[in-house]
Formats: sequence, C-alpha cells, structure tokens
Amino acid sequence: MRIVGLWSAGCICPLLVVLLQWLLPSIRASGAWNQNIPRLQLAHADLRSSNSSAVFWHGGFGVGGYYETLLLDEDRGWLLVGGRDYVYMLHSENLSQTIHKIHWPAGREHIERCKHAGKNLSTDCANFVRLLQPVNKTHVYACGTGAYHPQCTFIDLSHNAEEPAFRLPSNAVESGRGKCPFSPHEPFTARLSDGDLYAGTSVDFMGNNAAIFRTSVHTSSQHYIRTEAYHDHWLNEPEFVGSFSIPDTHSVDDDKIYFFFKETAVESNQLDKRIYSRVARVCKNDIGGKRSLINRWSTFLKARLICSVPGPGGMDTHFDELEDVFLLETKDPQNPVIYGVFSTSSSVFRGSAVCIYSMASIRAAFNGPFAHKEGPDYRWVEYKGRIPYPRPGTCPSETYDALHKSTRDFPDDLVSFMRGHQLMWEPVVPIHRRPLFMQINVSYRLKKVVVDRVEAEDGQYNVLHLGTDDGKILKVVSIPKENWETEEIILEELSVFQSPILSMELSTKRQALFVSSADAVARLPLQRCELYGKACADCCLARDPYCAWDGATCSSYFSTNKRRSRRQDVRYGDPWSQCQDLADGPDDTELKVVYGVENNSTFLECAPRSPLAAVKWSVQPSHSQSTRELHHGEDDISITQRGLLLQRITSSDAGLYLCTSHEHSFSRTLARYELQVIPQQHVTNVRNTHLTESKVGGNFAPSSLSYKDLHLIGVSGLTADEYCEQLWYREKRRQQKLRTLKWKQTAENRKARVRRQYEP
Ligand SMILES: *[C@@H]1O[C@H](CO)[C@@H](O)[C@H](O)[C@H]1NC(C)=O
Ligand SMILES: *[C@@H]1O[C@H](CO)[C@@H](O)[C@H](O)[C@H]1NC(C)=O
Ligand SMILES: *[C@@H]1O[C@H](CO)[C@@H](O)[C@H](O)[C@H]1NC(C)=O
Ligand SMILES: *[C@@H]1O[C@H](CO)[C@@H](O)[C@H](O)[C@H]1NC(C)=O
Ligand SMILES: *[C@@H]1O[C@H](CO)[C@@H](O)[C@H](O)[C@H]1NC(C)=O
Ligand SMILES: *[C@@H]1O[C@H](CO)[C@@H](O)[C@H](O)[C@H]1NC(C)=O
Ligand SMILES: *[C@@H]1O[C@H](CO)[C@@H](O)[C@H](O)[C@H]1NC(C)=O
Repeated sequence: MRIVGLWSAGCICPLLVVLLQWLLPSIRASGAWNQNIPRLQLAHADLRSSNSSAVFWHGGFGVGGYYETLLLDEDRGWLLVGGRDYVYMLHSENLSQTIHKIHWPAGREHIERCKHAGKNLSTDCANFVRLLQPVNKTHVYACGTGAYHPQCTFIDLSHNAEEPAFRLPSNAVESGRGKCPFSPHEPFTARLSDGDLYAGTSVDFMGNNAAIFRTSVHTSSQHYIRTEAYHDHWLNEPEFVGSFSIPDTHSVDDDKIYFFFKETAVESNQLDKRIYSRVARVCKNDIGGKRSLINRWSTFLKARLICSVPGPGGMDTHFDELEDVFLLETKDPQNPVIYGVFSTSSSVFRGSAVCIYSMASIRAAFNGPFAHKEGPDYRWVEYKGRIPYPRPGTCPSETYDALHKSTRDFPDDLVSFMRGHQLMWEPVVPIHRRPLFMQINVSYRLKKVVVDRVEAEDGQYNVLHLGTDDGKILKVVSIPKENWETEEIILEELSVFQSPILSMELSTKRQALFVSSADAVARLPLQRCELYGKACADCCLARDPYCAWDGATCSSYFSTNKRRSRRQDVRYGDPWSQCQDLADGPDDTELKVVYGVENNSTFLECAPRSPLAAVKWSVQPSHSQSTRELHHGEDDISITQRGLLLQRITSSDAGLYLCTSHEHSFSRTLARYELQVIPQQHVTNVRNTHLTESKVGGNFAPSSLSYKDLHLIGVSGLTADEYCEQLWYREKRRQQKLRTLKWKQTAENRKARVRRQYEP
C-alpha cells in the first residue's frame, strides 16, 4: 500500500504556531502578497453623503429585510431582490424609483409548527426567499424557506417591461423539497437548466439529510435524482457554495453541472476533523442507474479543490474553506475561468485568499486516478485496479456508444464501482499553483466575489470586486507581469454596510455593482475616478483600468470612444510617459516662505494624495551648497503623514526644504519651502512693543514641542498625526503673525535707513 504525501501534507497541526514565524514573511515575500493598502478608502459616511454616487435602498419599514437573493436582468433593466416574505422588483438605473413588490409569506400553519419546534419567529419562521432563477422571457422561478416548509413558484413578469404584471400565480405554489433548504441560514446553491433544477440542499428540518438533487420545475411529478443519503463517501456534512452548467465538448450529451462546496473530509486524518473544498459534477443526461443506483446519480464524481501557498519542504499553508465561486465567461463556452474565495479554518491565523482554476485542470482531476479505501481500517490510496468501461463519470451518448444509450444501460461492474469511488485521487490545483490574492491578519474575511473583464488602453484586465463579512467591498485589479506572474493592487476599499455582504450582481451594461446585506441594497458605480486627484499623474498612478485622464480630469474610460487625449497606463503606471505637464520640469512647485522662531518648533505641511506614496524630505541649508536628506528621528525631526516637524530650530536650520513623493518608480516634488529663522531676541522685543499692543490674539501659539508635549501626545489620546494637524492650524495663524512681524521689521529698518540717509 502506497502512502503518498498528498493527504498528510494537508495537516495543519500545532506545528503551524511555530511555522507562522517564518511563514507570514515568506508569504509576504512571495509575489502573491502585495500592497494591501487600498489606493482609495471610503467610509460608510462618505458613501452615504449626498455627493456620493452610491445609492441605497432600504425596502419597507419594519418588514422585509434579509436581502439574500439578487437577480439582475440586464436587457430589461430590472433587479429582483428576494428577502423575508417579499420579492421586490427595482429599476437597476434608479433604485429610488417606484418599486413593485410581492408579498409572499409562509403558510400560517407552517409558521405555527415552526414556532412550536422552538424556532424564532423573526429569524426563522418566515418565508426567506433563497432562489430566483430566470425561466424564460416572462417568468422567474422562486423558492423560499416557508417557515421550515420550503415552497416554490413561478413569478409572472409579463412581456411589457414598462408595466410588468409582477405577480404570483394565485394557485400554483408547490413543494420546495429538494429545491430549497428549510433553514434561512443553511448554505445553499441551485441552478435551473433546461427546465430542471439542480440544487445542493438538505431535505429535512434538522439539515442532516443534504444532497445534490435534480427535480423538474415544469411537471408536478415528484421524480428526482439525488446523491445517496447518509453515506459520507458521497457527501459528508456538505455546505454548498455554487453551481454552474458547463458544456464539456461540442456534443450536448456531454453537458455537465458542476457543484462547488466544502465538506468534512473523509480522507483526512480521522482524529482532527478537517474541512476540504470540493468540485463535483454530474451529467445532465444522467437518469439514474440500475440496481443500487435507482434514482441515484450514476455519474457523480468529486475532487478536492486546493488553494494554498507553497512552503518549504512541501508544508503548504492551506485555505480550505470555500466561501464563494464566480464563473468568468470566455469566448470559449467550454472553458470559463473559475474564481474561488477561500478562508482558513485555522485557529492560528485569520486569512482569506482568491484562487483561480482552469477547466482544463478540473477535467484533468476527473480524468485522473480514483481514490480508494479498502475497508474501515485502511488508508485512502490511489486506485490501481481495473477501471470499468465506460469510464466512470462518462456521460452516455447514443451517437458514440450504441450499447450505453442511457445511464440505465451502464453495466453492473460500473454501478458497483460508482458506489464506492466518488472521490478522485488528484486534487485540482489553482493556476500558477498559488493564490491570486490574499488578505492575512486583517479584521475581515472575504465572502463574495464577482469579476469584471475591463477593456483598457493597454489591454484587458480582470478586476475583482470582493465582498467581506463586515460589509466592505474591495476592488482589486490583477496586472500581468513577466514570467506569468501577476501583481494585484487594491484600488478601493468601500465600507458599504455594517453587516456582511450577502449577495453581489455586476452590471457591465450599466457599469454598476449591486450589493445586498440584511438591511439594504446598494448600487455602486464601478469607478470613482475623480477621487484619485485632479492631476494627470494622480490619475495615471492609480492604475485603475476604469479611469483615464481626459486632459482636464480623471474620468471614466470607455474603450469605444477612441479619443487620443485619453491618458492611461495600467501596466506600468508611469506618469512620465502619459502626462505632458510633467515635462515642464519637476520644480515648478510654488516656493513658500515660512518663518520660524529660534528655539521654537515649526511645521512644514506636505501630505501626498495617495496612501501608497512614500514621502522624502531634503534640505539645502542657507549656508551650504549641498543638499541632504532628512530622516525621521534625527536632530529633533519628525516626518509624519502630514509633513515635517522641526521641534527646536536653530539658525542653521534656515534653508530650502523639499518634499518629494515616491510611488511606483515615479517621484515628484509636492512642496518647496524656504525657512527663515527669526532670532528669539527679535520676537521678544517686537512682541513686547507691537504685538501685545495691537492685541492680535491674546494667546501666542505655544510652538516649542517639549518632551512634555511629546509625552502628552500619548496621554491625551492624540496620535502624532492628529497632534501635528492641530499644530498646523496654530502654525498657520502664527505664520500670519510672523509675516506681519517681519513686514513691520523690514518697514522699520527701511524707515531707519531712510532716516539715516536724511540725517545730517
Ligand atoms: C463630498 O463632499 C465633501 C465636502 O465637499 C468632501 O469632503 C467629500 O470628499 C466628498 N465626498 C465624495 C465621495 O465625493
Ligand atoms: C429616481 O427616481 C426618483 C423617484 O421617482 C426621482 O425622484 C429621481 O429623480 C430619480 N433619479 C434619477 C437619477 O433619475
Ligand atoms: C428572535 O431573534 C431576534 C433577533 O435575534 C431577537 O431579538 C428575539 O428576542 C428572538 N425572539 C425569541 C422569541 O427568541
Ligand atoms: C414561461 O414559463 C412559464 C412557466 O412554465 C409558462 O407558463 C409560460 O408559458 C412560458 N412562457 C413562454 C413565452 O415560453
Ligand atoms: C497581525 O496584526 C496585529 C495587529 O493588527 C499585529 O500586532 C501582528 O504583529 C500581526 N501579525 C502578523 C504576523 O503580521
Ligand atoms: C517660543 O516658545 C516659548 C516656549 O518655549 C514661548 O514662550 C514663546 O512664546 C515662543 N515664541 C514664539 C514666537 O512662538
Ligand atoms: C535656546 O535654548 C538653549 C537651550 O535651552 C539656550 O541655551 C539658548 O540660550 C536659547 N537661545 C535663545 C536665543 O533663547
């Protein structure tokens, strides 16, 4: 018996605690760990402000909520929202416009029974709409939990988009068993394909009897096909995530439905119960087998879906818990790209990752060896025995195999093989064998993903919109580099809701993202270009494929209007190649003269627009020809996010100060100051003679930052930045006074000179 490293490599033991020391740095050093500071960060309040382009919809007062299901119709421009006891129809252009809604509660007797069983009236015993699937041009199929008594129906949208009928047929509510879960909290997936509903759901009150079902939505027949109940080789406490219909070849006989889920892994160490993610598939033309497989799938196979970071010695870090899956269509319908969002089940560190899979790698796992377990006391091994014909998992085809026209014609040895071998030996590995994107040690988990393929000036880019469990949306662009590597940049982090993102729909036609939570639905434009900054360089440095500089502002980019003045460089983000105004010379920044009083502090403001920019300060002292760079901490110098703080200036500090920002190999001057130092003596004199008399502000700004002050920064709860901000406003006032002072001084000197000239 062969013990291959595969199953044992997955073990995350207490060893991880030790490993974490070198693991996280090594993750960081690897290409997959990138700048995780968003280029643009908007708080909930920013998005809610009237000048924001985000629109929020809250439904009715006191009713509804739990907006877990969204269905977008791009052509007719509406968005269906499934919530508690209601289905709403919103206009995707304008969420505030009058809405249509259907009240669809659970039956009274089911609510009573549900309450009787000890469930909560508001969080359990209602009709939570979990499924909305388009049937044809006029009808949508809807299912709800019906107070632990699932129900399904057709919703009539009628032909007229202006005035849709939008109603439930009065009589035709049917049982939702095998189509929709009993619980509003159970993870669930379903896909309607050619009049059949393929669903991963449980069919009992307790949620123990979970299976992959196929039922018909058109006939009232109770006929169904399912995975075997209570057999952990088929499914073991599964949590379903997604399902898709994907053609395998040009022949419709080969069409398959793919399911994505996670489950307790039978093949991992029995002692520590581990969760693995899976991809499973069934043939659409599977009508069940003979003998022990009557009304059971006879083509059901599953494989492990791996999303891990390679570590030294094969000790990979695994992200085992699939949270969401998105299918990005390509020109080839047989080969979409699969995006999966994963999180860790590790108690040692929190983290999420996005991995992408090709259909080729998924098919390779299903075409590879089977996993095999001889008996209860044996290990899982690679199956080396004879494989029956037709190969298990093959769809029957009248055209190619006259002997096996349907799955009921499969031979007995195949039937018995299928009952014991659902699991493939080889796992499915992601493209590049590592995550595309990771977030580790952050306060949230990634929960949802949609991907947009964006046409930019220099090519196509995939932009990920990721929803988190704390209501954020991250916008991440993936930029290909040499050697098949990619670079991921977080363009935006939007705090849309205060509760988890439940559902997302992308409208490429309207350039909008619809997201829902328990309390609201929001419509977000895909870009907020103007917030990157007014300058061409800011726009270019952002590297947002949705944005370009149009000669006047940073605005949204459409590849169709080929205006030559559009400036964009997603790949390199190099403003020198794009922005002509830079050619005028980097040092056209206005020179500001500031006055500092000897022995006191002064603050020179310089705050870059981009949080990704590094700031450098240099000085050319008045008495010298050479320039030197200033460093935080040396000689009473503090460099903060907002500027340079000189804590105790001396006459030798006088000179030319230059603040430059450095981002992505691009640097530019942000501010230039000429610092003039006024001797303490003068101030005291002049102050006594002029300022106190002229009553300009009774309290002169305290400007020397003593150690006591620095201590206070900590004690008063202010950060150094906030302190500097306060200091800056005081400093502004003080500069004004000093400027008056200097002017008075010069005026006096001039007068004195004049006097001297005319003195006899
Ligand atoms: C909205 O306007 C305020 C004040 O003019 C500004 O500070 C804020 O950045 C703006 N927000 C957005 C999202 O444009
Ligand atoms: C959206 O609809 C509301 C209500 O009909 C209307 O007041 C508002 O002007 C519309 N907004 C836009 C942008 O069309
Ligand atoms: C039902 O759940 C809600 C929300 O969690 C809670 O406020 C309420 O007290 C619960 N009701 C009962 C009867 O447990
Ligand atoms: C759409 O499906 C519904 C439900 O099966 C059916 O009643 C209706 O006739 C269909 N409409 C069209 C145009 O096929
Ligand atoms: C995780 O974050 C915490 C605080 O946010 C920090 O103290 C800790 O060093 C971080 N750990 C790693 C491994 O980055
Ligand atoms: C300079 O700092 C001292 C305290 O160290 C203060 O009394 C004085 O007013 C300050 N002078 C000016 C001009 O800010
Ligand atoms: C500046 O402070 C130093 C040290 O506290 C002191 O020796 C010096 O006399 C002060 N200079 C002026 C002009 O007040």
